[in-house]
Amino acid sequence: MNKIKINGGNKLAGTIKISGAKNSAVALVPAALLSDETVTIDNIPNISDIDALNEILTYLGAKVTRQQETIKIEARKVQNKVIPEYLSKKLRASYYFMGALLGKYKQVEIYFPGGCSIGARPINLHLKGFEALGAKIEENGNLYKIKADELIGNHIYLDIASVGATINIMLAAVKAKGITVIENAAKEPEITNVATFLNNMGAKITGAGTSEIRITGVDYLGSGFAEVIPDRIEAGTYIIAGALIGDNLKIDNIIPEHVESLLFKLKEMNVKMDINSDNVIIYKSDHLKGVNIKTQVYPGFPTDLQQPITTLLTQANGKSIIEETIYENRFQNIPYLIQMGANINIKDNNAFIDGPMILKGSNVSATDLRAGACLILAGLVANGTTEIENVEHILRGYENIIEKLTNVGANIELIEI
Ligand code: EPU
Repeated sequence: MNKIKINGGNKLAGTIKISGAKNSAVALVPAALLSDETVTIDNIPNISDIDALNEILTYLGAKVTRQQETIKIEARKVQNKVIPEYLSKKLRASYYFMGALLGKYKQVEIYFPGGCSIGARPINLHLKGFEALGAKIEENGNLYKIKADELIGNHIYLDIASVGATINIMLAAVKAKGITVIENAAKEPEITNVATFLNNMGAKITGAGTSEIRITGVDYLGSGFAEVIPDRIEAGTYIIAGALIGDNLKIDNIIPEHVESLLFKLKEMNVKMDINSDNVIIYKSDHLKGVNIKTQVYPGFPTDLQQPITTLLTQANGKSIIEETIYENRFQNIPYLIQMGANINIKDNNAFIDGPMILKGSNVSATDLRAGACLILAGLVANGTTEIENVEHILRGYENIIEKLTNVGANIELIEI
């Protein structure tokens, strides 16, 4: 068990380099199973979610070799056995083994995935997609047995533009017979990253990044290469840190277009910054203005940055309202912000923030990954010392967060307890 200790108040200056995107990498690694040759994925982030996926791959008999940011996976002779609950529960993205193994072997047995407790997070749309391709599903408690005699392309409409369902159906459909069309597909950049990888192995996917994805089934997937895109949520988190306590803080190796909704909000708040082709430099900002934010699917404001930006809004002048539309339970960070001195009221899926309030260091807990990021930001701006428990959630998704923040001047350390 670890906790994070922060002595707040230091200004942040220098450069933070953004790592590969967690939510791309966690799909690319299971997608590798579909290939019958060796595939290479570059710019893999060093986070515990990737370790958990590698454990599942190794359990299935795939050969995984990792050298720094590069991972090679050879999954020609995989044993398609039941993926036990202790492995599937380690992370949300274990559900991508459903699509990948179903696509390759027409059969998969796996337990319900884990991940952050931020809402019910059903997988009904994933299952509906598999069924539309011809699979039969048996549910036995948390165990899912998904089997098809043959997978046949179909027209699938997603009731919600779900990232997970879109990728999972793509994985199941790449080797199906005929054409699959996913309507109301999610448009997040991570989906394009996965589609490009599959195409590189020989798949025929068009339209990724739009709401209509068309997949023409192929018989064989061979060697392929993917470069994980920069993590737009990690980038957004540090850009928010810059707006909060930055003084010439450069967030490097980003794709600004992927964080456009955040950058527009920050401009509206009067944050001083320069946006360049692959970086953003944030200067010291005074007199921040409160704004209203509604979380939406891409390219709208991402739910994953909603909790981090709440800390910034506590430091802005006037009222702000956050409306969370994706998850039912993504305000678990707010009681801790209130404990630190913030003035926030929650009503249904809205949080009303009145600022600016001086935050004071406190003992808090990371209930989930992005709640943890919110509390780190709060600790950095607060007076005094903040100690955060349950930091395993944070380490699942932010590579070297302690080192990255220390290098730009933060007083932050990981303590073993
Ligand atoms: N939904 C359903 N049925 C489904 C699938 C989704 O009702 O079958 C609902 C969910 O309950 C939720 C909404 O649709 O209300 C969005 O769910 P989505 O499937 O898009 O989310 P996800 O695939 O489970 C991914 C990321 C999340 C990120 C969301 C939205 C991964 C592994 N996770 O989750 O990342 O919040 O997309 O962008 O890619 C995080 O990184 O902190 C995180 C939670």
